[in-house]
Amino acid sequence: MSYLNLRTCGVACANVIVAALIGLLALGCDQTSEDANLETRVDELVAEMTLEEKVAQMAGAGSEQAPYSVPGVPRLGIPTLETTDGPRGVGAQQGTTQFPVGMARGASWDPELELRVGQAMGLETRAAGANVLLAPTINNLRHPRWGRGQETYGEDVHLLKRMGVAFVQGAQEHAMASVKHLAAYSIQNTRFDVDVLVDERTLREIYLPHFRAAVQEAGAASVMTAYNQVNGLYCGENEYLVRQILKDEWRFDGFVISDWFLGTRSTVPAALAGLDIEMPAPRFFGDALLDAVESGDVPPERIDDAVKRIVRKKLAFNLDEPSAVDESVIASDAHLQLAQEAARSGVVLLKNEGDALPLDRQGLTRLAVVGSLADTPNTGDTGSSDTSPSFIVTPLEGIEDAVAGDDVVVDHIGRDVLEPADRDVIEQADAAVVVAGFTATDTGEFVGDLETLALSPERENLIKEVAALNPRTIVVLQSGTAITMGGWIAEPPAVLMSWYSGQMGGHGIADLLFGDASPAGKLPLTIPRSETDLPPFDNESEEVTYSYFHGYRHVDREGLDPEFEFGFGLSYTTFSLDNLQVETTGVGDEDAVRVSVDVTNTGTTAGAEVAQAYVSYPGSSVERANLELKGFQKVFLESGETKTASIEIPLRDLAYFDVSTRAWVIEPLEYRVHVGTSSRDLPLSDNFRAR
Ligand code: BGC
Repeated sequence: MSYLNLRTCGVACANVIVAALIGLLALGCDQTSEDANLETRVDELVAEMTLEEKVAQMAGAGSEQAPYSVPGVPRLGIPTLETTDGPRGVGAQQGTTQFPVGMARGASWDPELELRVGQAMGLETRAAGANVLLAPTINNLRHPRWGRGQETYGEDVHLLKRMGVAFVQGAQEHAMASVKHLAAYSIQNTRFDVDVLVDERTLREIYLPHFRAAVQEAGAASVMTAYNQVNGLYCGENEYLVRQILKDEWRFDGFVISDWFLGTRSTVPAALAGLDIEMPAPRFFGDALLDAVESGDVPPERIDDAVKRIVRKKLAFNLDEPSAVDESVIASDAHLQLAQEAARSGVVLLKNEGDALPLDRQGLTRLAVVGSLADTPNTGDTGSSDTSPSFIVTPLEGIEDAVAGDDVVVDHIGRDVLEPADRDVIEQADAAVVVAGFTATDTGEFVGDLETLALSPERENLIKEVAALNPRTIVVLQSGTAITMGGWIAEPPAVLMSWYSGQMGGHGIADLLFGDASPAGKLPLTIPRSETDLPPFDNESEEVTYSYFHGYRHVDREGLDPEFEFGFGLSYTTFSLDNLQVETTGVGDEDAVRVSVDVTNTGTTAGAEVAQAYVSYPGSSVERANLELKGFQKVFLESGETKTASIEIPLRDLAYFDVSTRAWVIEPLEYRVHVGTSSRDLPLSDNFRAR
């Protein structure tokens, strides 16, 4: 797919391009010969296979639990694929490290950390005897009531891109990643049937770019199709999505697997559309596919193409070579520490009036910890992304551990409806921590979409009652998505969104409550004042239409004020941003805008701020969002320290998809870049032209 960036390119520019190409050719020489060798081996192996052996590799072996395997060809030394979920830890084995859910990690806005999480999960995948990790989930969170919203990284294309690419790059140091679910999967209750009608621009600009990045930038070995239909065809047999866009346009050279059971709906249409593997067992592939080849309905070249894709990745990931399985990496100290770091890094401080936080261990005598969730393991849904860690640190355990050795009495009130004696305890405490939120019974893959974004009336009342009893009430929220807070947000002075923070979450939360670290998470989604401020969520109809606008793009366009905007998050310290510099750089399609800004920690403790760059398109010839996130950088700063955040925005990221010419168009506009610390706090701005 070409980018139309119409500008004249003189002799000097042409020279630069030629020099760059020569450099690239030299650098790429080794790579090219390696690739050629790999392709030769793939061709030779596939030429040796019988049709039956080829077709056998195109469907799961019917394993009933992970690792779900896909046959190889033992006589040729072609190993099996062994797949495991993802994405909050490795599901194939008990006792693996359980990380915070994707939404919590999205809230870290820290791709470098996500790369390390990917590495750890990739290592544990191999140690658990698997070689394909069914992660990351990068579906765009169109509406926060989606039952699997917790698995993905948020509502924004750019954030999904950066986090998804980082995860895949990390995981693929050890195992293949299967990026899921292509495409437009964001309703749970009707997921097996719903037909998502989405116009071409919306599909291209809102629902696909992060998949493209995972394939092209991170080299994902595999892509999983979604259950739902897109524009009249089930994704597993959607020729437009799979063959035309993913394979032809994006030049994806890996293999496409269906989602489980109902993810494959036919033999011939699915095979012709480009589905390479039916999971987890041959229902439409297997014998039926053999027959279809023999009757001429599926050309043998299509089978060869599928098998070459599978064998190519097996060889590229050295699955044909013996590898030492190091089980000691599973839930190693390093991975548990990483899980704690990830938990801490995703927590978003939503409110902190009168410096209610952090709590000072030395100044505290009694701390009340209230709510049924305070001491309940609550780390996400019970669907395919669930894992079985050997322990889970609850918020209460994290708090008790953090004050062990200090003179603090922790009073635990493990109920959501207070009893009379509880009130005295709460009143007499120096501070009260209320843990509230959603649980696996409210929503999840096997439970369905959330019925409401509001907490249960008991939990809302609990927050209000505790806040009325104790002026230093701190609310810790657990959820994989947005919670509407209008009924109670005015009452407690401090609120932390801790998401489903994984098995080390209790320690991560305590680190922040007691100021051992400063919160530095930012919202990866919009928290609306009311659900009516969002686009409608229809999880009953057989057909739904997805429009171009959701999340912050929607509330901005409608002129609505969210409770907490996309990108928002407070800290214990303060920051200032200044000295915005914007310059265009690069060559040809690689043209970019470099945005740099000095970030200073103006407070008294160490902390991290996320410099966020949004772009607006004054005078665009097509309808655009008011602002779109196009780059960000998390900057860690000691008190008083200044660092320059440097954000590169490739011009191709500013293109819109022109439906009439079927090309991405970078308009010759006077673009405006807005820089700040949330989508509504953007004090610095400047113009630039796409030359
Ligand atoms: C889910 C996939 C998952 C698969 C295997 C399906 O129901 O949609 O995300 O990878 O099960 O567990």
